[in-house]
Parts: sequence; C-alpha cells; structure tokens
Amino acid sequence: MKNAPGGLLLLLSVVLLTALIALAGTLVLIIFVLISLLPALLPALLTTLALLLTGLLTRLLLILLTSLILALIVRHRTILLDRFYLSLQMSNRQSNCIVPEIAAIRNKRRAPALMSRNPRSVPMPAIKDAIALLKADHRKVEDLFEKYESSRSKKADIAKQICMELTIHTIIEEEIFYPACKGQVEEDNLDEAQVEHDGAKVLIAELEEGSPDDDYYDAKVKVLSEEIKHHVKEEEKRGGIFSQIKDSEVDLKALGEQIAARKEELMAEFGKSGIPAPVTRSMTAKSIEQGQPISA
Ligand SMILES: [Fe+2]
Ligand SMILES: [Fe+2]
Repeated sequence: MKNAPGGLLLLLSVVLLTALIALAGTLVLIIFVLISLLPALLPALLTTLALLLTGLLTRLLLILLTSLILALIVRHRTILLDRFYLSLQMSNRQSNCIVPEIAAIRNKRRAPALMSRNPRSVPMPAIKDAIALLKADHRKVEDLFEKYESSRSKKADIAKQICMELTIHTIIEEEIFYPACKGQVEEDNLDEAQVEHDGAKVLIAELEEGSPDDDYYDAKVKVLSEEIKHHVKEEEKRGGIFSQIKDSEVDLKALGEQIAARKEELMAEFGKSGIPAPVTRSMTAKSIEQGQPISA
C-alpha cells in the first residue's frame, strides 16, 4: 500500500508512453502517404514531421521525468523528512553530542522522540479487526508447520512454537471469539469447531510431553497440521464462522482489541511459566488405554 502512489505513477507513465508511440507511428504513416502523393512537398513535410516528433519526444521525456521524481519522493518521503529534521537538529548541536534520535537513525531504527516531533512520519497503529488477527494466526501456524517439515536440527523448537501458537489461539477463540459468535453463527459450526479444537489439544499435549526423537512424533505433527488445516478451512470458508460473523452486527474492531490484549497477556504469561496443560471443553480421553505399537 505504501508504494501504491509510486507504482500508479509509473503505470500511468507506461500507458502514456504507449499511447504516444502509437500516435507517433500513425503520424509517420500519414506523412509517408502524403510524401508519396505530393513529392514536391517532401522537404516541408519532413520538416513538419521532425518538428512534431521533437515536440512529442520532449513532452514525453518531461512527463516521464516528472513521474519518476514524484514516485521517488512519495516512496522516500518519510526518510527525506527525517533527514531534513535531523539536519536541523544537528545544526543546533555540537557535532559530538549525539542525541538518541540521531543514534537511532544511524542504527536504522526509528526514535520515538523524533517521530513524535515529526507527525508526518508517525506510522498510525492499525487497529485490526478480530478476523484479521485470527487469520494472521492461521497463516503463522501454517508457516511453522512448513518450517517443521523442512527442518532437521530445529524441529523441537519449531514444535514448541507451534504448540504455543495453537494453545494461545484456541484460548482466545474459546474465551472471546466463539462466545461473541453465539447467536450470530450457526450453533453446529461452533460445536464442530470446539470438538476440532479439543481433538487438536490431545496432539498438542502429546507433542509437549515428547520430543522429535520419539516414535510417532513427526507423524503427530503431520496429523496435527492436517487437522488444523481442515479446521482453518472450515473457519475461513464462505459460509463458515468468519463469514457468518462478518455479516452480523458484532463490532469486529472492538473484538479485535480484546483479542489482541488477551493474546499479549497470554504470551507474557506462557513465556514465563511455559504452556499449561490443554483444557478440553467437549471431550476427555479418560477411557483410552495405550497398547503396543504394531510390529512387523
Ligand atoms: Fe482459528
Ligand atoms: Fe478455531
């Protein structure tokens, strides 16, 4: 989005260039026809053609240059403004007195103090709605599953991260999002989602207790990824939970704020104490007993 104005200008320039080239080609064709009909007028026609082409090329070059300059200014306006501001700051200070803002810029980071004095460079924190936040979680976990498959030495770390992300995601959906969906989304969809969460929790608990060296560990990660893929598809599909709540009166921005706050809280908590044992809401596994693996 940030580069859209520059890209638009470049696109307009290309379209304009194409149109001008087509026009120039047509003019050349007309002139050659005239030449063939009126040989006596050849010198005058050639002069006119030369003048026309020169005028067209000059205008074309001016338009292209202006578009490029505008595109560069739009793209780098924040950097230019910061540098301008810094140059003003530095002109008023000793050269050996490096203020935190300048140090931050030198480290290619943005200094809060600098940003607050230059409102045009302050990025507005985007308030994401609940759906955008939950979808972002989905994409992150999908990415982690892909990384697990291609990893050799970091499987344990990636599996831990998968468990953390999924645990937090299921908690915020069950504590905040699904309750908000009650009465707005078909009850069957919510029940199925809950059972799918609880099924995933069994595998999450298994992964939390084990390690990639264990038998069946990779298979458990794979099956968990497939379960989650199915669950995410059900939530995001047309007519699924997300699309039903989008069509409702629920304030998704307010819900998004609640979700973001709770997520931050859970990440801090689990970062310190580790992931707690999963809590299921629709089932238990108390009657299951483990047998022996199938042998050849
Ligand atoms: Fe979800
Ligand atoms: Fe879910």
